[in-house]
Amino acid sequence: MTYSAAAVFQPESLNESIPGMTQDTNGQNFNLEAISRYVEPVPSHLPGSAVIDIFNQDPGLSAVPVIDHDEVVGLLTRKRVFLNFSRQFGHAVYARRPVSRLMITSPLVVDAMTPIDELSRKVLTEAPSALEDGFIIMQGNSYHGIGNSMGILRLGMAQAERKTQELAEAKEAAEHANAAKSRFLANMSHELRTPLNAIIGFSEMISTETFGPHVVSVYKEYAEDINTSGRLLLDIINDILDMSKIEAGHFKIEVQNLDMTPIIHNAVRLIMERASQKGISLIVDMPPDLAEVRADNRAMRQIFLNLLSNAVKFSNPGSAVTIKVRQVAGKIRISVCDQGIGIPAKMLAKITEPFMQVENELTRKEQGTGLGQPIVVSLAERMNATFELDSEFGVGTVASLTVDRAH
Ligand SMILES: Nc1ncnc2c1ncn2[C@@H]1O[C@H](COP(=O)(O)OP(=O)(O)OP(=O)(O)O)[C@@H](O)[C@H]1O
Ligand SMILES: [Mg+2]
Repeated sequence: MTYSAAAVFQPESLNESIPGMTQDTNGQNFNLEAISRYVEPVPSHLPGSAVIDIFNQDPGLSAVPVIDHDEVVGLLTRKRVFLNFSRQFGHAVYARRPVSRLMITSPLVVDAMTPIDELSRKVLTEAPSALEDGFIIMQGNSYHGIGNSMGILRLGMAQAERKTQELAEAKEAAEHANAAKSRFLANMSHELRTPLNAIIGFSEMISTETFGPHVVSVYKEYAEDINTSGRLLLDIINDILDMSKIEAGHFKIEVQNLDMTPIIHNAVRLIMERASQKGISLIVDMPPDLAEVRADNRAMRQIFLNLLSNAVKFSNPGSAVTIKVRQVAGKIRISVCDQGIGIPAKMLAKITEPFMQVENELTRKEQGTGLGQPIVVSLAERMNATFELDSEFGVGTVASLTVDRAH
């Protein structure tokens, strides 16, 4: 015998008729079939006393559906039935009268394929009384069983557990893939460096005419070009290697007491030539009695080289780049300030992502891959230092690193 219902709440996923929509990737069902309990419906003309007997025989029974001409027309809940019978004259009034007088006439009716999240949404927004009364579950046009709030909770929890597990697995897979990518980049960079060193070394020998002068002078120029390009390529490869090493956790960070003075002067020395070619003055502004910091030597050297290189690269000829060092509340803050082209506000947050560059004439003209900043950010993170980038488009940029003072 099958019973139908007038209006059944159909899940959206069924309307779209996508098979497997209500299943997770492991094929586990999170629809209402799992929590449906078949309870034999009673006819609407059954006397009230009979339904009291049904509830008394099964203490775990929370509700009984009511049918009329094979159609589910209501729901008798234990609470409602017993409440009415326990009232004064309740027994006299309801014992012989049909159960239709006691039933909830428009209970929530849902399809068994409804996913649990869809049902929860429906109950919360449209049918909160179903939490107390329970609801009727249909399979297509036939009565399937009843469900209650315990079932919703149980299924919701099972689904949440499954989703948490799936997320953990996805995260692990992503980390695995990321580690593989970093390994690949590190290997590739390593393999590229070896032939490149030969290209750089030999082109230098050819351009400097180590074994005698060239008969055709243009060969000297070509060799110089090969050398310059080779060095540029090597810089890029070294950056990629550094970035992948940092990401893969192979860039060893050793935090120790460090005197910043030689590190800053060394970075300035290395950048000096590039700066003077553009007529940019480099100013170092730091207290003479600067305390030591807690940082990694190699990381600090790389950070200031990258920051100074950017400051000079993106500054206009004739301007100044200042390295300002200040002691602030147990920390030391080192800022590289320039009066250059600045970074547009909407790009500022993105610029620390690998390969991000602001598209403009200067960046197109200048060399670079967009790895300098990301390397700074990753190294600062690994040392527990704070890196901040402030910039005003057309005015200048201040890149600051704040590190702990040594005790
Ligand atoms: N001081 C600065 N002034 C203006 N723009 C800057 C400054 N520093 C960085 N930028 C912008 O941020 C982008 C990313 O900087 P990043 O150092 O990562 O890459 P790059 O200098 O272009 O290349 P690489 O450092 O790999 O040689 C730059 O291309 C530039 O658009
Ligand atoms: Mg750079």
